[in-house]
This record gives sequence, structure tokens and C-alpha cells, in this order.
Amino acid sequence: MTSPLKINQPRLIARLDELARVGALDGGGVTRLTFTDADKEGRDLLVRWMRELGLAVQIDRVGNIFGTRIGETDDAPVMFGSHIDTVKSAGTLDGCYGVLAALECVHTLTEQNIQTRRPLVVAAFTNEEGVRFTPGMLGSAVYIGELSVEQAWDLRGFDGTRFGGEIQRVGYDGTMEPGAIEPCAYLELHIEQGPLLDLNRVPIGAVDAVVGITWLEITVNGAANHAGTTPMDMRRDAGLAAAKIVTYLREIATTLGGNQRATCGMIQFLPNAINVIPSKAIFTVDLRNSDNDALQKAEAMLVEFVKKIETEDGVSVEVRALEHVLPVQFHPMAIQAVEESAQKLGLQFQRMVSGAGHDAQLMAHKFPSAMIFVPSREGISHSPKEYTPPEDLARGADVLLNAIVDLAN
Ligand code: GLV
Ligand code: MN
Ligand code: MN
Repeated sequence: MTSPLKINQPRLIARLDELARVGALDGGGVTRLTFTDADKEGRDLLVRWMRELGLAVQIDRVGNIFGTRIGETDDAPVMFGSHIDTVKSAGTLDGCYGVLAALECVHTLTEQNIQTRRPLVVAAFTNEEGVRFTPGMLGSAVYIGELSVEQAWDLRGFDGTRFGGEIQRVGYDGTMEPGAIEPCAYLELHIEQGPLLDLNRVPIGAVDAVVGITWLEITVNGAANHAGTTPMDMRRDAGLAAAKIVTYLREIATTLGGNQRATCGMIQFLPNAINVIPSKAIFTVDLRNSDNDALQKAEAMLVEFVKKIETEDGVSVEVRALEHVLPVQFHPMAIQAVEESAQKLGLQFQRMVSGAGHDAQLMAHKFPSAMIFVPSREGISHSPKEYTPPEDLARGADVLLNAIVDLAN
């Protein structure tokens, strides 16, 4: 057996640090929402790095970025990457680690004059986070044909902007047809964003499944009135009704148990004044479960509860689906490549389910896919406190490197 390949840790960290300076916030953290000026700057940096490494860069019609390193044959390539858009006040690793480690893998191979039989493609998908435009994982959804380019371009962001207008504004409306590169396998390296690897002190997660995700927008319509003069029993308080529904989310999760999650992450009252009973409340719901039946049950419980609140509180409620992503089981061949790579490197690993959404879960609908996780300190992510020690980041990238070389040969 040949000795395993190793990436260059300081170079990986230096690139992560440089990308983290784009959209950096005073006091820590970074915000690079899809197609904002910061996202454009981050993309420009990535494309520059790809070109410096001699990769052929292609941008597709929804702004997905691909950098191809030619192989000894034109056989279907191995694709690996993640995303570089962020949530608001994000850490520096979610997504960026997967893309820049992918770049580092290619850099290592080129530096060591190692050719692979199949071409290698570094991928950065558009709008994985879904914070500005929903659905999230948009780039990969379009890539596999589950959403059309036209549907994507017509989306309205939470800030009222149009996806099509913003992609043109930042100049990432490429010409490549999404789906044009058909990889033989897709791998995604990511921080776990949960506590398990850190708690168990295991350096590598071999991810074999990802939870399904349901995103809803709920609008409660009541009646605005004076906070001081309106008797409590004569109110149609949209704020109170929303609060009851939000509280019920916890009950859904505890009733269903397992890995059911339920979150309200955004809420808005109208007119939003201290002395006015809210006429309207608009909020989002994020439901997740690796068991699709349970996930559907969670949504059904919520809808049932909403009907009860309509009657009891004299409000009317609209529930709008923003996203339904099915749970996915990854491909045995791709998982095996990850596990064999970890074994070859002498790294302990454990099988695990991802509770976060990832482009790999959509790519898996069409291409054999799997993911590699590394520990997240205290399981913190979607926060400026997100952290993984450099040695752990390097280990994950080593696993990626040996796995892609294996798959490409
Ligand atoms: C993306 O990070 C998600 O899981 O929402
Ligand atoms: Mn991510
Ligand atoms: Mn994320």
C-alpha cells in the first residue's frame, strides 16, 4: 500500500483566513449573503485561486462555480466542494472549509505532480444557506434539475430583491447549463456543526445520511387595536397567537422524540409598535428529521394546532411552504471511499447522520455522494464562535484528498 497523501495545513488555514476577511464583521464573524457585494468579492477570490492553480473555471446559469483539473482520461470526473455563502453573523468554516479544502487537495496533487485518471472538479454551489433567497441548497437543486433556472431567477429575497437581478448585478450569471458536468461521485467535506465528534473525541465522521428539512412561512392575521383600551377578551392578537404556535414547536419535537427538531428563527410583528396589538405576525418554521414519516407527522401536528388557534384566538393563519427536502441516504461506494481513506490515514471515524442541510443531499439524488465531517468545538455553528482546530481541519482534508484520488483512479 502506498503511503497516504497529506495536504498543506498552513496553506489551507491561510486561505480560510483570507476568505474570512471578506465580509468580516466588527467584533467577529462574517456575513456573505448570496449575491451581495461581499459574496461577489468572495467568489472573485475563489475564482482567482482556481485560475492560479490552472483549473478551468466554469460558471453556470445560477452562479455555481466549477474548477476542473484535467485527468488522464475524459471519464466522468470526481466532484467535491461545498458553498461559500454564509448565514448572518456566521463563523468562517461552514461551507468555506469544504471548498477551500477541495482547492487545497488539488494544490497538493499539482505540487506533487500527481495525475489522476479521472478529472477532478472543485465545486462551490450558490445560495446553500437560503438566508437571502429560499430555498436553501438552491444551486445544487437547480444543478440536479429539481428547480429550474427560471424558477430560481424569479425568486424574491427576504430583502425584496430578485435573484435574477442580483446574479446579473454581481456578474455571476454564467453560461454553463446546470448539470452539464456529470460526476461519477460527489464528496463534501464539512464541519459537523453539532457536538458528537467533539464529545466522542473522534476526528472523522463518515456521514451516511442527512435529515429531511421542511421550511414554512406562517402568517397570522389578527386586528390592530389600542394596547391600553382594548379589554383582554376583545382582542384578536396576532402576536399572542404566533407566540402560542412558536411555543407549540417545542411540544412537537418532544412528542415525536428521536432526532426531530423544530425552530422558529425569524419573526416579525406588524405594525410593530409598543402600544399597538399586532395585526399581523409573520414567522418561519424549520422542521427536521431523518425519518420522513415523522417529519410529515410534525408538519401535520403543526397544521392541526394552527387550526385550533384560529378558532380559539379569532385569527386567520396562512401556512406557506418554502422548502421540502427529503432525508437522504448516501451511496455505499462513496461512504466506503471515505472510510477507507480514514483507515489508510490511521484516523478513527464514526458513521453519522447530518442534522444540517448540505448540497450533497441534493447531489445524492443524481450522483453517488457522501460527506466527511470534522469536529466542531462544542458543536457550535451558524455563529461567530464556530471553531475547529487547524489539525482537525487538516485531517478532514487529508481524508478528502485520499478519497478523491481513490475514486478518480
Ligand atoms: C444550512 O446550513 C442549514 O442546515 O440550514
Ligand atoms: Mn454549510
Ligand atoms: Mn450553514
